[in-house]
Amino acid sequence: MEKTVNTPAFQKRLRRHVIGRVRDYFAIVPPRFEECFRQELIDLGIDASDIWVEPGGVTFAGRFVDCQRVNLHSRTATRILMRIDSFEATNLRKLRKRSAAVPWDLFLPAGVLPRIQATSRNSRLYHTEAVSQGILEGIGRRSGTLPPSSSEQTLFVRLVDDRVTLSLDSSGMPLYKRGVKQGPAQAPLRETLAAAILMKAGYDGGRPLADPMCGSGSFALEAAMLAKQMAPGSRRGFAFTDWPAFSERQWTFLKRQAIASEQVLKRPRIFSSDIDGAACRQLSATISENGLSDAVGVVTRDFFDCKGDQYDVRPGLVAINPPYGIRIGSKNRAAELFAHIGSHLKAAFHGWDVALIAPHRDLVETLPFAVRQMPLLHGGLRLTLLVGTIK
Ligand SMILES: C[S@@+](CC[C@H](N)C(=O)[O-])C[C@H]1O[C@@H](n2cnc3c(N)ncnc32)[C@H](O)[C@@H]1O
Repeated sequence: MEKTVNTPAFQKRLRRHVIGRVRDYFAIVPPRFEECFRQELIDLGIDASDIWVEPGGVTFAGRFVDCQRVNLHSRTATRILMRIDSFEATNLRKLRKRSAAVPWDLFLPAGVLPRIQATSRNSRLYHTEAVSQGILEGIGRRSGTLPPSSSEQTLFVRLVDDRVTLSLDSSGMPLYKRGVKQGPAQAPLRETLAAAILMKAGYDGGRPLADPMCGSGSFALEAAMLAKQMAPGSRRGFAFTDWPAFSERQWTFLKRQAIASEQVLKRPRIFSSDIDGAACRQLSATISENGLSDAVGVVTRDFFDCKGDQYDVRPGLVAINPPYGIRIGSKNRAAELFAHIGSHLKAAFHGWDVALIAPHRDLVETLPFAVRQMPLLHGGLRLTLLVGTIK
């Protein structure tokens, strides 16, 4: 690797090219929830004119400190990539030459080769293995021979119409891994998707929330963190903490600031339950281990015994991800259960807002109240999200 020792000259290059420079960052976001993430960016102080929304992702301009804040606070993004370079390459020689020109010592930890994730569309360089190899050779040419490393660093290489974009993943593990849940779970909803669904349904943490088929508790835990204004990334690590530009002092400050803004609730306003006692016990343990007991209560209960006014006199939001797919057996049984859920909601949750995941779009017809619908991709399944008010 070129000289990356901590000399004043190197620090100056870091400040000029990484720390003090406004760069583009690309956030991968669950499709159709880009607007939720855009709002999060605005709430974090990113100027609306520095945000560009596209399907499946959002680009924003900011400094390295903004990238760290977004990783720490975003509830909906899957990962945040730092754009490193973009150039045209129609052959491997040019790809190697351009990637060797990138000052990798400013971005990668000393002695580390990143994993490469390459995609190619409508480009002469279409063989992604060869593209990955070419990029690694370019990095090696610049940095000296490096042993393959098992680092958490991943470089995304995207080729579209012969244009290469290099982006370094700042997040590491996907951001839906909050470092909160423990143990195995049945068909858990990804945390980022659960948070985005709550936002789409207008949940702001102030009203009661019922999660009456909670399973591992994705809705309840996300709602609790929202209600307590807890940063979802405060219990996990990030790839950027190994970057040369990383400052422990600044990161400690950002985390302290996040912890200082956490609220303690006077009494729980999030009510989770499930018919499965073991799932409820596991969720209870997760709640107390993560300091969320002031926000969430858990009981073992059949949904068909739940009523809105058991929780609070004020109507709130009821969020349900019912069982579907092979676990429920046939399509007819899923439809029967769904219709039953709809009629129980109508009878027992009058005036409540609802966010309900439906396995098939045609099941909307069986609901006895009006809802808005939007397609939802989850774990390879095409589902439908239904949002409305039970009247
Ligand atoms: C798809 S899972 C929910 C996953 C959950 N959203 C999560 O993120 O882990 C469906 C859950 O519904 C629960 N369930 C099924 N029938 C129920 C009923 N009648 N009352 C309460 N819970 C029920 C199952 O035990 C299971 O935990």
